[in-house]
Amino acid sequence: MRASHPLEGSVAIQGAKNSALKLMAAALLAPGTTRLHQVPDITDVAIMGEVLTAIGAEVSRDPDGALVISTPEELIPVAPYELVEKMRASVVVFGPLLARQGFARVSLPGGDDFGHRPIDIHLRAFGELGASFVTEHGYVEGRCGRLVGREIAFEFPSHTATDNVLMAAVTARGTTVIENAAREPEVQDLAAMLIAMGAQISGAGTSRIEIEGVDALHPVDHTTIPDRVEAATFLAAVGIAGGSITLDGVRPEHMDMLLEKLVTMGMSIHRGEGSLTASIGERLRSVDIATLPYPGVATDYKPLLVTMLSVANGVAIASENVFAGRFGYIDELRRMGADITIEGHHAIVRGRDQLSGAPVRARDIRAGAALVIAGLGADGVTEVSGVEHIDRGYELFVEKLRGLGAEITREFD
Ligand code: UD1
Repeated sequence: MRASHPLEGSVAIQGAKNSALKLMAAALLAPGTTRLHQVPDITDVAIMGEVLTAIGAEVSRDPDGALVISTPEELIPVAPYELVEKMRASVVVFGPLLARQGFARVSLPGGDDFGHRPIDIHLRAFGELGASFVTEHGYVEGRCGRLVGREIAFEFPSHTATDNVLMAAVTARGTTVIENAAREPEVQDLAAMLIAMGAQISGAGTSRIEIEGVDALHPVDHTTIPDRVEAATFLAAVGIAGGSITLDGVRPEHMDMLLEKLVTMGMSIHRGEGSLTASIGERLRSVDIATLPYPGVATDYKPLLVTMLSVANGVAIASENVFAGRFGYIDELRRMGADITIEGHHAIVRGRDQLSGAPVRARDIRAGAALVIAGLGADGVTEVSGVEHIDRGYELFVEKLRGLGAEITREFD
């Protein structure tokens, strides 16, 4: 891609990846046919489809694009290594399998470009609900009778652990309380679907979720919330390339902290009913950022924000408080001329007038998107390899950017 003209026009935001993957797992809780709308056509969804198929469900798209999941009475309670290794979010089938089958054999996820990512919070919570575990040959095997509700306090508000425990607890006997639960909008979306399926849940979206176990759930039709990280990616794009764009089908209230930061950086943001218009008429200004669980600035936004800071006026500190190892993309930004120093979990970013186009490699989804965005503002041609990482989370990324006027092409698959 080349340094682009200012971006203009509007773009439709896809359904949230981090919601859709969990909604797909939730379909395992109810035998019958579940229909999920606004599920993006991305690789991670395809992998989760393979996980569900391995477990015995049938997964397809109907003519209007909805994802249709047919869940049988008896599940095959195994999440195999080949799939969990490709996508660690597959561990989110653990809760539904324990709830439905009283047994689950799930491959332990390995490390990734974020560093060490354990699942101890998930397992400790399942243990408190009555499951017991053995770990051998790279798999965790969990067994239980009907799970029993308990008060569980999370050491850290893990997003996926909250989803997993929520799904395990909906059919447990009695009341489960999750203290220090994750508050992400995607957790609220999962709870909304589970409630529609017949679950009794209160407090989703707060740090205390209460679940009153029910005997069984029924399948539903559900629409996924919009993807706030995809939305953030297009906001970063206009911040870097300049111009004025409208995002359609967003929930601005899910992005409050980010929008505040962007305004401090000099962007104009107008909130509409399910839409956002963003523009920039001056050079971005530097601002310190620190990632935190929701409602803080999401760690998934950080590569985008660091990219913006690398061409902003001033010096800023960007601190990573969620994933210790999430700095892999910074060496690539440095290849494009960014002036960034790492001190522990802080990145010190000195803004340059312009980055310089270079060949760079994407190593994870958001870092890949950030490098593409960096290329929009860089002098000359930027060639991003490893685009399969971007395909894990973004539907029609190149086409959408081109639709806004970016000079970008995809050379091969
Ligand atoms: C989810 C998102 C990911 C996002 C992240 C943080 C999905 C599919 N992925 O990941 O895009 O970046 O939330 O918002 O929804 N931890 C433990 N033990 C555990 C679980 C987590 O120590 O059992 C630690 C992790 O190593 C990390 C922190 O807790 O340091 C946050 O992880 P978590 O919230 O679980 O992230 P994910 O749910 O995996």
